[in-house]
Amino acid sequence: PSARTFFDEVGGHPTFVALVHRFYEGVRQDPVLAPLYPQDDWDGAETRLRMFLEQYWGGPTTYSQERGHPRLRMRHAPFAIGPAERDAWLSHMRDAVDSLGLTDEQDATLWGYLEMAAFSMQNRH
Ligand code: HEM
Repeated sequence: PSARTFFDEVGGHPTFVALVHRFYEGVRQDPVLAPLYPQDDWDGAETRLRMFLEQYWGGPTTYSQERGHPRLRMRHAPFAIGPAERDAWLSHMRDAVDSLGLTDEQDATLWGYLEMAAFSMQNRH
């Protein structure tokens, strides 16, 4: 059997469903972020982010089977992401991570990645 992944450790699929669902509840109501997203495909956006995060943390590789190489910086290029968008994204993600009831160590692992990734996705000053 393969090593236990972070995906497994934090509770697998249901944990990522909960994380991303909570995140998008906030994003949908955010005046800075909501206009950037496809208004007719919120469920699709939720699914894509969930699949990506599941794959990143060692879960199923459905994201790449359906979407190919992530190339996230390139995929975000059409959206103007400055400090305000980055910070709004992180604030909804912080709220969503808080809702999971992770251990401090799990929280630090997940949050460290999300914060780094959000800063790397910024493409405007
Ligand atoms: C897609 C915004 C950061 C992962 C998107 C989309 C928007 C967006 C508007 C298109 C929605 C869709 O149709 O799927 C932002 C903003 C960010 C941010 C404003 C602020 C920094 C991140 C970060 C990650 C991420 C940090 C990863 C940890 C994704 C993924 C997709 C996506 C996986 C779907 C890509 C695809 O397969 O098409 N993002 N994003 N985003 N974002 Fe972000």
